[in-house]
Amino acid sequence: MYCRARSGGLKGICGSHAVHTYSAPTFPAASITALQAVAVWKRHFEERGVTEPDHSSQHIIAHLLGAKTIESLGQEKLTEFLSHEKAERMWELCTRRLSRMPVQYVIEEWDFRDLTLKMRPPVFIPRPETEELVELVLADLQMKPGAAVGAEAQHTCLEVGCGSGAISLSLLKSLPQLKAVALDQSQDAVDLTRENAFRLGLQDRLQVHHIDVIKDADAVVSLCSPVSTLVSNPPYLFSEDMTSLEPEILRFEDHAALDGGKDGLRVIKQILTLAPQILSNHGRVYLEVDPRHPPLIQRWVEAHVEELHYVETQHDVTGRPRFCILGTEK
Ligand SMILES: C[S@@+](CC[C@H](N)C(=O)[O-])C[C@H]1O[C@@H](n2cnc3c(N)ncnc32)[C@H](O)[C@@H]1O
Repeated sequence: MYCRARSGGLKGICGSHAVHTYSAPTFPAASITALQAVAVWKRHFEERGVTEPDHSSQHIIAHLLGAKTIESLGQEKLTEFLSHEKAERMWELCTRRLSRMPVQYVIEEWDFRDLTLKMRPPVFIPRPETEELVELVLADLQMKPGAAVGAEAQHTCLEVGCGSGAISLSLLKSLPQLKAVALDQSQDAVDLTRENAFRLGLQDRLQVHHIDVIKDADAVVSLCSPVSTLVSNPPYLFSEDMTSLEPEILRFEDHAALDGGKDGLRVIKQILTLAPQILSNHGRVYLEVDPRHPPLIQRWVEAHVEELHYVETQHDVTGRPRFCILGTEK
């Protein structure tokens, strides 16, 4: 889920309060084409050690020219001269990337499954494996009665730690009968989820609450239950792994979205403790976790949460055990 630092590590140099200066390549005196601008910035990113230099400059120019990818622009558009305003904007956005701002924040949007979501620091940027978590939930819900348009029963879902709203909004888009409640401890995340819900026209089926699942357990139970599905991509990094993250993550993303405490299970244990009070009969919990977590979670639930049982571990496309499914039925 999270990029690791390259060799040598980044300890001590990527705190969010450090002062940095970022020198851009000289703004061109003469007109420049999109392809030339991409080449100038790719080289500059490479020289300054910015990760994914090609990908970054290509995404920024594609965004400026109103496309998702550089490939979709066509040779003619790429070899036309940029207007002075577009070239200036390219320099402005690429200078932000030079500060190691993730490209998703630079262009202020990112795609998640079939949705384009607004992105804003420090709200967590959705990762590709979370699309797999959504697919798992969808596959299960689509097999149950109540998911289809016109169905009588209605599924309800709670998402703990909604960030930009990626999971809840994606489920709502795919299941027209679903209603969802989403919560997050971060006001920035709550605001962004609401904004994304409005942009996508899904606001009528989503309630969003500013709640800390650990500090405000009573509010979680009273405002967010009962639901048939509980889903979360919680903060699950082991605290000791935080220092080896890429500067893009450490400087710009909310550390509370990443750091799961000493064993990465701080929020997960709270979700599982509350799950029996939140879920209706035959309810299920779906969690994205670290590959080391599934056996730890299974043992912990068996010892501490009598009303919940461990259903199965699912693997991601690379074969790593990344998703835990638990249920209230025996
Ligand atoms: C890994 S991010 C996932 C965001 C989003 N669901 C996604 O997949 O893109 C974890 C989210 O959990 C939220 N969070 C962390 N601790 C929390 C807590 N105690 N109560 C509620 N939300 C929490 C963070 O603010 C963050 O938005």
